[in-house]
Amino acid sequence: MIETLKNTRNLPDSALQELLESTDAALAQELKDTAREVCLKVKGPEVLVRALIEWSNICRNDCLYCGIRRSRAGVPRYSLTPEQILECCDAAWRDGVPTFVLQGGENPAAAESLLPTVKEMRRRYPSAAITLSLGELPFDLYAAFKEAGANRYLLRHETANPEHYASLHPAGMRFSSRLSCIRELKRLGFETGMGMMVGSPGQTTEDLILDLRLMQEIGPDMIGIGPFIPQSGTPFENCPAGNAETTLRLLAIMRLMFPEANIPATTALATLLPGGKQAGIQAGANVIMNVYTPLKERKKYDLYKGKTDV
Ligand code: 5AD
Repeated sequence: MIETLKNTRNLPDSALQELLESTDAALAQELKDTAREVCLKVKGPEVLVRALIEWSNICRNDCLYCGIRRSRAGVPRYSLTPEQILECCDAAWRDGVPTFVLQGGENPAAAESLLPTVKEMRRRYPSAAITLSLGELPFDLYAAFKEAGANRYLLRHETANPEHYASLHPAGMRFSSRLSCIRELKRLGFETGMGMMVGSPGQTTEDLILDLRLMQEIGPDMIGIGPFIPQSGTPFENCPAGNAETTLRLLAIMRLMFPEANIPATTALATLLPGGKQAGIQAGANVIMNVYTPLKERKKYDLYKGKTDV
């Protein structure tokens, strides 16, 4: 089966379902090996490192799964100062990591105050990649960030099924708005990242296939996925975690469907599965995101239970 899959970007739904659900361990291994081979051929042998700077855990949203949702009590809230952010960038640059990922809760007013910092990052490091992950923002703010020198943006779509999306998010958050933001980011010329949680409450294999189809339609440059991990003090605290093996298979499928994409082996995967970053690379991922957030604040960026902080 795999030999025929290798040269096509268009696996039929039935093949996707089989790859995701099969109990045949040899098939799963072949899938991952093939993805790794395609990754080596298309992306080369290097694993790319990103510097993740978790700039703030203050968020206006109340996503039911998320540990930094607005209404979760007992989360000490913080925002890094511009100086702290720039120190993280300097440290990453010295380490030979020229891709900065500035991520935080959705907070448009505060996000706007990052514009001068992004300009300074660009001034100091003209050749660096500056990635933002700040949620849904007004389109003119996206444009202003582009103008300030940011060139990549991560905005996971979380699920491509609008009804499932509604069950993961509070009233008022809409899948259609998320999608408009993603399309606008692409239109503005950002290298754009999408992605979803694997095994979020209520998700079916059909939903995962919809995710893949949506990404085929939009053509993300980056794809971030990780297993859902319940967090205490959230509405989903007693829901089961997603499955690491399904996550690995999806990584492999994504490498076959989107050979050129930059795909990280994520922290959520490593949190759920010891050795998960390596396993992710062996299944076709080519990016690792290392945390550069100052140690003092790291624990507060508490998206899910047991989040590893390396
Ligand atoms: N488990 C796994 N991933 C989560 N995220 C948020 N909460 C959780 C959780 N409980 C992911 C979302 C978000 C990214 C920053 O973290 O997909 O886009």
